[in-house]
Amino acid sequence: MDEPNLFSRVDEYLSTTFFLEDEALVSARESVRENGLPEHSVSAVQGQFLYLLARTCGVGRIVEVGTLGGYSTIWLARALSDDGILDSIEIDPVCVRLAKENIGRAGLSDKVTIHEGEGLSILRTLEENERSVDLFFMDADKPNYVAYYEWALENARPGSLILADNVIREGQVIQAHSKDEKVTGVRRFLEFLSQDDRAEHTVLQQVGEKGYDGLAISRVK
Ligand code: DHB
Ligand code: MG
Repeated sequence: MDEPNLFSRVDEYLSTTFFLEDEALVSARESVRENGLPEHSVSAVQGQFLYLLARTCGVGRIVEVGTLGGYSTIWLARALSDDGILDSIEIDPVCVRLAKENIGRAGLSDKVTIHEGEGLSILRTLEENERSVDLFFMDADKPNYVAYYEWALENARPGSLILADNVIREGQVIQAHSKDEKVTGVRRFLEFLSQDDRAEHTVLQQVGEKGYDGLAISRVK
């Protein structure tokens, strides 16, 4: 197929034309590949989109599930207000170590805390914070997306954004009888969103160097 290749080349064109990546972002992206981890970081253009969304709604507190090497973490943390904070949760100790190095290199260690452990258990420890969560980004553990969404809603304010990565999965999302638990997970999540009127929703299909995927976007009422 020509299209994916063209989509990747356009991604590269946009990334270079807009000078999207500085050294810290390049290091975060490359550290994942160098350590043989899956190259599931968001792309530069997707990172820029997350940053712009965060800037648009004004964010003082962000929670992320799935740090990997800290690539999206850096994009999002750069959108925080001066006194803003970001908590990112990662289950793999190798990723935690890499992410901490990458966050340090980006000069964001004072704003970002990486928590090692399972998503829902760590989230429970983050509930006591007085600040509401302005932006929640789920990017791991697709079968638990509904549970993460429920946590995000409980801890949000009107206008908060709840984002979920990888909900299109090369179009596999339309396979009603899929046995892939990531596909069934995102299908369950999208069905749940369609019935949930505590927020307004849309799903953005995305193409580029990461293939064909998509981002669910919810704005809390
Ligand atoms: C997968 C996870 C991701 O976060 C991503 O961006 C792409 C793929 C996966 O687990 O398949
Ligand atoms: Mg992802």
